[in-house]
Order: sequence, then structure tokens, then C-alpha cells
Amino acid sequence: MSRLDVIEMFHGISFPGHLHTQDSLQLALKFQFQDTDILITSYPKSGTTWMQEIVTLIFSRGDPHLSQTVPNWARAPWLEHYYCAAMLEAASTTPRIITTHLPHHLLGPALQGSKAKIIYVSRNPKDVAVSFYYFHKMANFLPDAGSFAEFLNQFLEGTLHFGSWFDHIKGWTCQTATMNNLLNVTYEEMSMDLHGTIKRIGSFLQCPLVEDEISNCVKHCSFSSMKDNKMVNHTLTPEEIMDHSKGSFMRNGETGDWKNMFTEEQNQCFESVYKSKMQGCTLKFVWED
Ligand code: A3P
Repeated sequence: MSRLDVIEMFHGISFPGHLHTQDSLQLALKFQFQDTDILITSYPKSGTTWMQEIVTLIFSRGDPHLSQTVPNWARAPWLEHYYCAAMLEAASTTPRIITTHLPHHLLGPALQGSKAKIIYVSRNPKDVAVSFYYFHKMANFLPDAGSFAEFLNQFLEGTLHFGSWFDHIKGWTCQTATMNNLLNVTYEEMSMDLHGTIKRIGSFLQCPLVEDEISNCVKHCSFSSMKDNKMVNHTLTPEEIMDHSKGSFMRNGETGDWKNMFTEEQNQCFESVYKSKMQGCTLKFVWED
């Protein structure tokens, strides 16, 4: 299967062209947020789909009907994709759940003054790099990943599609530190304490759940449930876009997988780039199980 690999350059960042157009990216920057909107924002492979499932289940009070009948891209559409406006118009649910991978320096102005609730999902970047590498292998709309060593260099240089992880994380966390409508959630917290994290997210969204409802959410957004749910596991996505013979979207859902992939030298190089690029940023990640 040949790669679609059409590139859309926007403000110096490359985006996959099969879903992003200059018009759709431009429209995202001018989007009129409503105060009732929920915005899930993340760098790719940080647990975005997981958060879409969690937020859907929270508003369904743990009932899986919606998450098992409507695909994630329709119930929590990506703001920058060309079909977003149509999906939001068709959506009958309140609040609107919107997803984005756009960096803060591009989307911040549209959010200025808005009371929309923002959830920023982040993940230890070594695991993001590994997950993104495997995703490039099965996602035909992304460029050929090459070797892991080549891919890791591009990750550290910030030249992959969606731009630099470092700029993304610093923009969405350091630039928004005083905003009380933004909640930071890490992939590792969700892995370690899904029950507690869902409770915290429910309170933030002003949709507190009782214990039974939280337990139902936990059950339906576990890795094994989501791996089997066609509405999120991308097995319904056409093969020319995602080739499941080359890997699964729901790959292994683990923390600390980077240890199986990084050489000692790659780890040292990563650490030194991380130290210099994250200077002044107080964020702490859990690097291992
Ligand atoms: P891995 O490739 O490490 O398995 P995104 O949705 O941002 O693209 O992130 C995808 C990553 O989140 C993949 O990581 C995927 O397996 C993981 N993921 C999705 N749902 C999950 C869940 N319920 N529990 C744990 N990991 C999950």
C-alpha cells in the first residue's frame, strides 16, 4: 500500500494533508469557542483517544452506549480537520467535546477570554517517541519513519508532523500556568490511578460522579475494552489510511516502553536535549513503571 503522504505546511509546522487543509487550519485559528465547550489538547500519542473516551463516559455517567456506537472522531472531532465544522453542527450532545493537536501559540488567541474547559494531556516524551514511531509504520498518511535512530533525531529536532513536542508542552503548560479553566492530566496518572483521575476530571468538568459511575467509566475505558471497541480502535478506518497488518492503533498501552527501544547512547542524547530545551519548565514526568 503506497503512502498518502501529502504535506500541508502551516506556520512552519507540517501536518498530514489527508485531513488538514490550509482552509481547515485557518478556520481552527478563528474558531468561536463557547463557554460550555470542552477542549482536549495534546501532542499526538499522548493519550488523546483515551481522554476522548473518558470525557464521553463521564458525561454519559459511565453508560458505554455513545462510546460504543459513535466513532471518537465524530463525538470529539479534531478542530483542525476539514470535517470538524460539519461534525460539530451534527453533534446533538452538550457540551461539545473538541480535540486538537495544535500548539498553544497558534490556538491561544482563539481561546483568549473563553471559559471553555481545557484538558491538556501529556505523556513522558520517550514513550511518545516510541508510540509515534510505531504509529508512523501503520499510518499511511504519515511519512516513512525510517529507522528508530533517524526517527528519534527528527523527534528531538521537532521536524515531525505536528511540530516539536518541546514547544507543544511548554506552550500548553508554561503559558497557561495561571488559567483555572485548564486541567493538566498525564498518561502516567491515568495508568497508575484511572479511578482517581476520572474522579478528578469529573469534578473539573462540573460533572461529579458517584463511585458506581466511576467504576463503570474505568471498566469501559480500560485498555482491553478500548482495544476491542471498533469506535476507537481504528479497525473501521480504511486500509489506505491505517494498515492494521503493520500494527495496531491500540498498540500496548504501557508506560516505560521506551526502555525496550532506546539504546544507552540514545537515552543520553535524549536526556541532554531534554535538559536544555525544558530549562525553566517545572513539569515532572514519570519515566518508568
Ligand atoms: P502505545 O502506542 O504506547 O500503545 P493518542 O490517542 O494520543 O494517539 O495515543 C495513543 C496511545 O495511547 C497508544 O499508545 C495507545 O495504545 C494508548 N492508549 C489508548 N487508549 C488507552 C487505554 N485505555 N489505556 C492505555 N493506553 C491507551
